[in-house]
Amino acid sequence: MTYRWWQKGIVYQIYPRSFQDSNGDGVGDLPGIVRRLDYLQSLNINAIWLSPIYPSPMHDFGYDVADYTGIHPLFGTLADFDRLLAEAHRRGLKVILDLVPNHTSDEHPWFIQSRASRNNPKRDWYIWRDPAPGGGPPNNWMSYFGGSAWAFDETTGQYYLHLFDVHQPDLNYRNPAVREAMFNVMRFWLDRGVDGFRVDVITLMMKDPLFRDEPLNPDWDGIDPAYKLKHIYTSNLPEVHDIIRQMRAVIDEYDDRVMIGETYLPNEELMQFYGPNLNECHLPFNFQLITLDWDAQTVRRAVDEYEALLPPGAWPNWVLGNHDKHRVATRIGPAQARVANMLLLTLRGTPTVYYGEEIGMEDVPIPLEMMHDPPALNQPDQAHIIGRDPERTPMQWDSSPNAGFTPEGVQPWLPVAADYTRRNVAVQEQDPTSMLSLFRTLTVLRRAEPSLSVGAYAPVDTPAADVFAYTRTAPHADRFLVVLNFGRGSHTLDFSHVASRGSIAVSTGMHRTGPVDLSRLTLGPDEGLVIRMG
Ligand code: NOJ
Repeated sequence: MTYRWWQKGIVYQIYPRSFQDSNGDGVGDLPGIVRRLDYLQSLNINAIWLSPIYPSPMHDFGYDVADYTGIHPLFGTLADFDRLLAEAHRRGLKVILDLVPNHTSDEHPWFIQSRASRNNPKRDWYIWRDPAPGGGPPNNWMSYFGGSAWAFDETTGQYYLHLFDVHQPDLNYRNPAVREAMFNVMRFWLDRGVDGFRVDVITLMMKDPLFRDEPLNPDWDGIDPAYKLKHIYTSNLPEVHDIIRQMRAVIDEYDDRVMIGETYLPNEELMQFYGPNLNECHLPFNFQLITLDWDAQTVRRAVDEYEALLPPGAWPNWVLGNHDKHRVATRIGPAQARVANMLLLTLRGTPTVYYGEEIGMEDVPIPLEMMHDPPALNQPDQAHIIGRDPERTPMQWDSSPNAGFTPEGVQPWLPVAADYTRRNVAVQEQDPTSMLSLFRTLTVLRRAEPSLSVGAYAPVDTPAADVFAYTRTAPHADRFLVVLNFGRGSHTLDFSHVASRGSIAVSTGMHRTGPVDLSRLTLGPDEGLVIRMG
């Protein structure tokens, strides 16, 4: 059995604005990423995924694309991009771009033409509707960023649809010309050598042709407007699979590339995004470790259900954090973040790591007047809950001013964490017990051991409700038992039925190694162990 790079390897997400500034403007850029490639290589990751780097007015920080085949001057030039690609490839690192097909910026030339007149040839590239009979928006659809999803355009007297910011009009994928244009965007980058795409809101690309009102969501938490309605007419329509298969066919015109879909869905629906013949996403993102309660039994059930539902031949994946969700160390606390990383890096399936999580970065509280994120600004009352700036702050490289992200005296686009002199790469590299040392120990082991990278997963029952244990085994290779304590209590557990002998390969505390008695395995508070079975 041979496995592709995107099955064996680890994906690392870079939010380019916040990774490394090279030209002293307070915003990260491509030459900055090049400077940090040796560091990335030292993490034993296999691919970097870059959040959008295209020209954009930055209303949604690059997810509002004004030119799909260029580079925003803030980030550099196409030549810088080519250099990044070459330098990454030279180090054996793949490069995945963020493709944002669902919507463009309102400054994209396609939209400028589309809104110019009702009979412009590009009119039908976007979703235009007359006002409702009594006036007002055509239906009740809501933007994920708050308010109606429809914006009135004075010039032509119609509304256009925007499921996100008013500056992000949705493209009309019922128009074959739009599809072809987007497929050519993909080819542009694939021809240049990129190794694949993470496709933004891939589930939303088709909307109800009858534009029916969406029902209220009885389970709405009253906070995030994104979930006030049940998105039965704007999300996960059956027709979306047809476009995804076409996108995959474009990917398959090239050798060994990957397509990852952004898919916030329950397990059963998620599985459909692999496609009937595994001809859709290679990896529909599995966000359960972000969305579920951090509880050993809940997580175990989720892992077991996901494993059981995977179609034959489909490859699993796991994600612990991204630029839209509060950082894992903030969600579950720093001690459990170590356990969570051990879980991420020992489960079966491709792990995706969000930049900074290898040093345990936490959310940085951002005062309202310094917030940039549109959903937060649109809904100031909820800004501290739904705002995404806190998880997008500059990478903490060292103890110098601005954490080595941007030179002293420059104001970074978002503030650096107050505790950066204690939590940064340089400090943690010197500390064998640090999160970074733990991360590297785990990634070295994962890379070296077939059982951990591609082996089978099997849960192991334990009497302790706070403990999640499982084995990872591959033929003709060392086998592993992973035991994770999600709680603050200590446990002594008997695993002698799983293996007669064991030796600790990694502990979250980084203080235990060597043989252990599996009939009386002790586990401290917040402790996780990876045990090589004898
Ligand atoms: C999902 C992206 O991850 C998020 O950051 C963005 O705001 C929306 N899609 C809209 O593109």
